[in-house]
Amino acid sequence: MKKKVLITRKLLRSNEDRANELWDAKLNLNDEVYSQQKLIELSQGCDGILSSLTEKIDEKVIKSLPSTIKVISNFAVGFGNIDIEAAKKKNIVVTNTPDVLTDATAEIAMLLILGACRRAAEGISYVKKENWKWSADFLIGKQLNGSRLGILGMGRIGQALAKLAKVFGMEIHYRNRSKLSKEKEMGAKYHENLQSLFSVSDVLAICCPATNETKNIINKETLEYFPTGAIITNVARGDMIDDDALVQALVNRKIYAIGLDVYKGEPKIHNGYLNQPNAFILPHLGSATKKTRTDMADLAINNLNEVLNTGKCTNRVN
Ligand code: DGY
Repeated sequence: MKKKVLITRKLLRSNEDRANELWDAKLNLNDEVYSQQKLIELSQGCDGILSSLTEKIDEKVIKSLPSTIKVISNFAVGFGNIDIEAAKKKNIVVTNTPDVLTDATAEIAMLLILGACRRAAEGISYVKKENWKWSADFLIGKQLNGSRLGILGMGRIGQALAKLAKVFGMEIHYRNRSKLSKEKEMGAKYHENLQSLFSVSDVLAICCPATNETKNIINKETLEYFPTGAIITNVARGDMIDDDALVQALVNRKIYAIGLDVYKGEPKIHNGYLNQPNAFILPHLGSATKKTRTDMADLAINNLNEVLNTGKCTNRVN
Protein backbone atom coordinates (compact mmCIF):
# COMPACT_ATOMS: atom_id res chain seq x y z
CA MET A 1 0.00 0.00 0.00
CA LYS A 2 1.19 3.50 -0.84
CA LYS A 3 2.31 5.76 2.01
CA LYS A 4 0.09 8.74 2.77
CA VAL A 5 1.71 12.17 2.66
CA LEU A 6 0.33 15.66 3.32
CA ILE A 7 1.79 18.33 1.01
CA THR A 8 0.91 21.63 2.63
CA ARG A 9 1.32 24.03 -0.33
CA LYS A 10 0.83 23.79 -4.07
CA LEU A 11 3.99 22.66 -5.88
CA LEU A 12 4.90 22.95 -9.55
CA ARG A 13 2.95 20.49 -11.70
CA SER A 14 5.85 18.11 -12.45
CA ASN A 15 6.62 17.82 -8.74
CA GLU A 16 3.00 17.10 -7.84
CA ASP A 17 2.86 14.43 -10.56
CA ARG A 18 5.89 12.75 -9.05
CA ALA A 19 4.44 12.93 -5.54
CA ASN A 20 1.24 11.32 -6.83
CA GLU A 21 3.20 8.47 -8.40
CA LEU A 22 5.10 7.77 -5.19
CA TRP A 23 2.42 8.28 -2.57
CA ASP A 24 -1.20 8.68 -1.80
CA ALA A 25 -0.59 12.43 -1.69
CA LYS A 26 -2.97 14.97 -0.13
CA LEU A 27 -2.34 17.97 -2.34
CA ASN A 28 -3.37 21.56 -1.68
CA LEU A 29 -4.83 22.43 -5.07
CA ASN A 30 -6.11 25.87 -3.98
CA ASP A 31 -2.79 26.70 -2.33
CA GLU A 32 -4.53 27.71 0.88
CA VAL A 33 -2.27 28.75 3.77
CA TYR A 34 -3.34 26.22 6.40
CA SER A 35 -3.94 27.25 9.98
CA GLN A 36 -2.13 25.17 12.59
CA GLN A 37 -5.42 23.46 13.45
CA LYS A 38 -6.12 22.57 9.82
CA LEU A 39 -2.62 21.20 9.37
CA ILE A 40 -3.11 18.94 12.39
CA GLU A 41 -6.49 17.76 11.08
CA LEU A 42 -5.20 17.08 7.57
CA SER A 43 -2.22 15.13 8.85
CA GLN A 44 -4.46 12.47 10.43
CA GLY A 45 -3.63 9.09 8.90
CA CYS A 46 -0.50 10.43 7.16
CA ASP A 47 3.04 9.03 7.38
CA GLY A 48 4.78 12.28 6.50
CA ILE A 49 4.37 15.99 5.83
CA LEU A 50 6.01 18.00 3.08
CA SER A 51 5.87 21.45 4.68
CA SER A 52 6.68 24.99 3.58
CA LEU A 53 8.09 28.02 5.37
CA THR A 54 4.56 29.48 5.63
CA GLU A 55 3.59 26.97 8.34
CA LYS A 56 4.69 27.50 11.90
CA ILE A 57 5.14 23.96 13.17
CA ASP A 58 5.90 24.75 16.80
CA GLU A 59 6.00 22.50 19.86
CA LYS A 60 2.23 22.67 20.33
CA VAL A 61 1.59 21.55 16.75
CA ILE A 62 4.22 18.81 16.92
CA LYS A 63 2.67 17.43 20.12
CA SER A 64 -0.75 17.35 18.43
CA LEU A 65 0.41 15.55 15.28
CA PRO A 66 -0.72 11.92 14.97
CA SER A 67 1.85 9.30 16.00
CA THR A 68 1.88 7.98 12.42
CA ILE A 69 3.93 11.01 11.27
CA LYS A 70 7.56 9.98 10.90
CA VAL A 71 8.97 12.84 8.89
CA ILE A 72 8.52 16.54 8.16
CA SER A 73 10.34 17.42 4.96
CA ASN A 74 10.63 21.20 4.73
CA PHE A 75 10.53 22.75 1.26
CA ALA A 76 13.29 25.25 2.16
CA VAL A 77 16.86 25.31 3.33
CA GLY A 78 15.83 27.35 6.39
CA PHE A 79 13.88 25.42 9.02
CA GLY A 80 13.20 28.10 11.64
CA ASN A 81 9.48 27.50 11.10
CA ILE A 82 9.77 24.06 12.74
CA ASP A 83 10.61 23.23 16.35
CA ILE A 84 13.18 20.58 15.47
CA GLU A 85 13.88 19.63 19.10
CA ALA A 86 10.19 18.99 19.81
CA ALA A 87 10.09 16.90 16.63
CA LYS A 88 13.12 14.91 17.73
CA LYS A 89 11.49 14.15 21.09
CA LYS A 90 8.55 12.69 19.17
CA ASN A 91 10.90 10.71 16.86
CA ILE A 92 9.95 12.80 13.86
CA VAL A 93 12.81 13.36 11.42
CA VAL A 94 13.02 16.90 9.99
CA THR A 95 14.83 17.53 6.69
CA ASN A 96 15.65 20.57 4.53
CA THR A 97 16.77 21.38 0.96
CA PRO A 98 20.34 22.70 0.97
CA ASP A 99 22.55 23.36 -2.11
CA VAL A 100 19.86 23.41 -4.80
CA LEU A 101 18.86 27.01 -4.03
CA THR A 102 22.33 28.44 -3.45
CA ASP A 103 22.78 30.11 -6.84
CA ALA A 104 19.25 31.48 -7.13
CA THR A 105 19.44 32.98 -3.63
CA ALA A 106 22.91 34.45 -4.22
CA GLU A 107 21.52 36.09 -7.38
CA ILE A 108 18.74 37.73 -5.36
CA ALA A 109 21.31 38.83 -2.77
CA MET A 110 23.24 40.51 -5.60
CA LEU A 111 20.04 42.09 -6.89
CA LEU A 112 19.34 43.53 -3.42
CA ILE A 113 22.82 45.01 -3.29
CA LEU A 114 22.50 46.53 -6.77
CA GLY A 115 18.95 47.74 -6.20
CA ALA A 116 19.74 49.39 -2.88
CA CYS A 117 23.08 50.90 -3.96
CA ARG A 118 21.80 52.23 -7.29
CA ARG A 119 18.42 53.45 -6.01
CA ALA A 120 16.45 51.16 -8.30
CA ALA A 121 13.16 51.46 -6.36
CA GLU A 122 13.18 55.25 -6.68
CA GLY A 123 14.14 55.05 -10.34
CA ILE A 124 11.29 52.66 -11.16
CA SER A 125 8.84 54.83 -9.31
CA TYR A 126 9.93 57.99 -11.21
CA VAL A 127 9.64 56.25 -14.57
CA LYS A 128 6.20 54.81 -13.79
CA LYS A 129 4.91 58.21 -12.79
CA GLU A 130 6.39 59.63 -16.02
CA ASN A 131 8.03 62.47 -14.18
CA TRP A 132 11.74 61.78 -14.50
CA LYS A 133 14.24 64.10 -16.06
CA TRP A 134 17.94 63.71 -16.62
CA SER A 135 20.35 65.87 -14.68
CA ALA A 136 23.92 65.37 -13.53
CA ASP A 137 22.88 64.85 -9.93
CA PHE A 138 19.63 62.92 -10.45
CA LEU A 139 19.37 59.72 -8.35
CA ILE A 140 23.05 59.55 -7.60
CA GLY A 141 23.74 56.19 -6.00
CA LYS A 142 26.66 54.25 -4.57
CA GLN A 143 29.09 52.41 -6.79
CA LEU A 144 29.77 48.75 -6.07
CA ASN A 145 33.23 48.70 -7.61
CA GLY A 146 35.70 49.48 -4.83
CA SER A 147 33.11 49.22 -2.02
CA ARG A 148 33.56 46.84 0.88
CA LEU A 149 30.99 44.04 1.19
CA GLY A 150 30.55 42.46 4.62
CA ILE A 151 28.99 39.01 4.47
CA LEU A 152 27.44 37.79 7.70
CA GLY A 153 27.35 33.99 7.39
CA MET A 154 29.80 32.51 4.91
CA GLY A 155 28.03 29.24 4.21
CA ARG A 156 27.02 28.10 0.74
CA ILE A 157 24.98 31.21 -0.11
CA GLY A 158 27.51 33.61 1.40
CA GLN A 159 30.32 32.03 -0.61
CA ALA A 160 28.31 32.09 -3.84
CA LEU A 161 27.51 35.76 -3.24
CA ALA A 162 31.19 36.52 -2.57
CA LYS A 163 32.05 35.12 -6.01
CA LEU A 164 29.45 37.29 -7.74
CA ALA A 165 30.36 40.42 -5.78
CA LYS A 166 34.04 40.00 -6.62
CA VAL A 167 33.15 40.20 -10.29
CA PHE A 168 31.61 43.61 -9.50
CA GLY A 169 34.92 44.70 -7.97
CA MET A 170 33.80 44.59 -4.34
CA GLU A 171 36.26 43.88 -1.53
CA ILE A 172 34.93 40.96 0.52
CA HIS A 173 34.91 40.76 4.32
CA TYR A 174 33.07 38.13 6.35
CA ARG A 175 32.10 36.85 9.76
CA ASN A 176 31.29 33.21 10.27
CA ARG A 177 31.19 30.75 13.16
CA SER A 178 34.58 29.52 11.97
CA LYS A 179 37.23 30.86 9.62
CA LEU A 180 37.16 29.27 6.18
CA SER A 181 40.12 27.58 4.52
CA LYS A 182 42.24 29.83 2.28
CA GLU A 183 40.81 28.05 -0.74
CA LYS A 184 37.22 28.81 0.25
CA GLU A 185 38.01 32.34 1.39
CA MET A 186 39.25 33.31 -2.08
CA GLY A 187 40.87 36.45 -0.69
CA ALA A 188 37.99 37.47 1.61
CA LYS A 189 39.01 38.85 5.01
CA TYR A 190 37.74 37.06 8.13
CA HIS A 191 36.54 39.13 11.13
CA GLU A 192 36.64 37.80 14.69
CA ASN A 193 33.55 39.68 15.82
CA LEU A 194 30.51 41.57 14.62
CA GLN A 195 31.80 45.03 15.46
CA SER A 196 34.91 44.45 13.40
CA LEU A 197 32.86 43.24 10.40
CA PHE A 198 30.19 45.93 10.57
CA SER A 199 32.73 48.73 10.93
CA VAL A 200 34.18 47.93 7.47
CA SER A 201 30.87 47.12 5.76
CA ASP A 202 29.93 49.76 3.21
CA VAL A 203 27.37 47.14 2.29
CA LEU A 204 26.25 44.27 4.52
CA ALA A 205 24.70 41.06 3.21
CA ILE A 206 22.99 38.91 5.83
CA CYS A 207 23.30 35.26 4.79
CA CYS A 208 23.39 33.44 8.15
CA PRO A 209 20.77 31.05 9.55
CA ALA A 210 18.16 32.29 12.03
CA THR A 211 19.10 31.03 15.48
CA ASN A 212 18.73 32.35 19.03
CA GLU A 213 22.22 33.80 18.62
CA THR A 214 21.46 35.73 15.43
CA LYS A 215 17.99 36.99 16.41
CA ASN A 216 17.90 40.81 16.20
CA ILE A 217 21.60 40.90 15.44
CA ILE A 218 20.90 44.18 13.63
CA ASN A 219 19.72 46.43 16.45
CA LYS A 220 20.08 49.96 17.81
CA GLU A 221 23.49 49.23 19.29
CA THR A 222 25.04 47.26 16.41
CA LEU A 223 23.77 49.76 13.82
CA GLU A 224 26.16 52.24 15.40
CA TYR A 225 29.12 50.06 14.34
CA PHE A 226 28.49 50.74 10.63
CA PRO A 227 30.13 53.54 8.66
CA THR A 228 27.59 56.34 8.19
CA GLY A 229 25.83 55.81 4.88
CA ALA A 230 26.14 52.02 4.88
CA ILE A 231 23.68 49.74 3.10
CA ILE A 232 22.09 46.69 4.71
CA THR A 233 20.66 43.77 2.76
CA ASN A 234 19.04 40.55 3.93
CA VAL A 235 18.35 37.39 1.98
CA ALA A 236 18.27 35.02 4.98
CA ARG A 237 15.45 35.53 7.51
CA GLY A 238 13.69 38.59 8.97
CA ASP A 239 14.38 37.44 12.53
CA MET A 240 17.88 38.88 12.31
CA ILE A 241 16.64 42.48 12.18
CA ASP A 242 15.10 44.71 14.82
CA ASP A 243 12.81 46.50 12.36
CA ASP A 244 12.12 49.57 14.51
CA ALA A 245 15.84 50.20 14.90
CA LEU A 246 16.56 49.76 11.18
CA VAL A 247 13.70 52.04 10.10
CA GLN A 248 14.96 54.69 12.53
CA ALA A 249 18.51 54.36 11.15
CA LEU A 250 17.12 54.84 7.61
CA VAL A 251 15.13 57.87 8.63
CA ASN A 252 18.10 59.55 10.29
CA ARG A 253 20.38 58.60 7.36
CA LYS A 254 22.82 56.56 9.41
CA ILE A 255 21.87 53.85 6.92
CA TYR A 256 21.73 55.03 3.31
CA ALA A 257 19.50 52.30 1.88
CA ILE A 258 18.29 48.77 2.49
CA GLY A 259 17.61 45.75 0.30
CA LEU A 260 15.32 43.16 1.87
CA ASP A 261 13.84 39.92 0.59
CA VAL A 262 12.76 38.48 3.96
CA TYR A 263 10.81 39.85 6.92
CA LYS A 264 9.86 39.06 10.47
CA GLY A 265 6.32 37.64 10.57
CA GLU A 266 5.96 37.24 6.78
CA PRO A 267 3.82 37.98 4.86
CA LYS A 268 3.44 40.97 7.16
CA ILE A 269 6.01 43.67 6.73
CA HIS A 270 6.95 46.48 9.10
CA ASN A 271 5.03 49.57 8.01
CA GLY A 272 8.09 51.74 8.35
CA TYR A 273 9.73 50.16 5.29
CA LEU A 274 6.80 50.86 2.98
CA ASN A 275 7.16 54.62 2.77
CA GLN A 276 10.93 54.76 2.61
CA PRO A 277 12.14 55.66 -0.88
CA ASN A 278 15.51 54.11 -0.06
CA ALA A 279 14.02 50.67 0.68
CA PHE A 280 14.44 48.17 -2.14
CA ILE A 281 12.10 45.41 -0.99
CA LEU A 282 11.07 42.10 -2.53
CA PRO A 283 8.53 39.44 -1.44
CA HIS A 284 10.83 36.53 -0.45
CA LEU A 285 11.93 35.61 -3.97
CA GLY A 286 15.29 34.05 -3.03
CA SER A 287 14.65 30.64 -4.56
CA ALA A 288 11.95 31.69 -7.01
CA THR A 289 13.16 30.38 -10.36
CA LYS A 290 11.54 27.47 -12.18
CA LYS A 291 14.71 25.40 -12.06
CA THR A 292 15.35 26.01 -8.39
CA ARG A 293 11.78 25.51 -7.18
CA THR A 294 11.59 22.28 -9.21
CA ASP A 295 14.89 21.04 -7.78
CA MET A 296 13.90 22.04 -4.25
CA ALA A 297 10.60 20.16 -4.42
CA ASP A 298 12.35 17.15 -5.96
CA LEU A 299 14.83 17.15 -3.11
CA ALA A 300 12.08 17.56 -0.50
CA ILE A 301 10.29 14.58 -2.10
CA ASN A 302 13.52 12.53 -2.10
CA ASN A 303 14.19 13.41 1.53
CA LEU A 304 10.71 12.38 2.58
CA ASN A 305 10.92 9.14 0.63
CA GLU A 306 14.33 8.32 2.05
CA VAL A 307 13.10 8.67 5.60
CA LEU A 308 9.95 6.64 4.97
CA ASN A 309 11.96 3.87 3.31
CA THR A 310 15.11 3.78 5.44
CA GLY A 311 14.47 5.88 8.55
CA LYS A 312 17.52 7.96 7.62
CA CYS A 313 18.35 10.98 5.45
CA THR A 314 21.49 12.92 4.56
CA ASN A 315 19.55 16.17 4.82
CA ARG A 316 18.25 15.48 8.31
CA VAL A 317 18.52 18.56 10.54
CA ASN A 318 17.47 17.19 13.97
C1 DGY B 1 14.78 28.88 2.01
O1 DGY B 1 14.79 27.80 1.41
O2 DGY B 1 15.02 28.95 3.21
C2 DGY B 1 14.43 30.07 1.19
O3 DGY B 1 14.33 31.20 1.96
C3 DGY B 1 13.15 29.79 0.44
O4 DGY B 1 12.97 30.74 -0.55
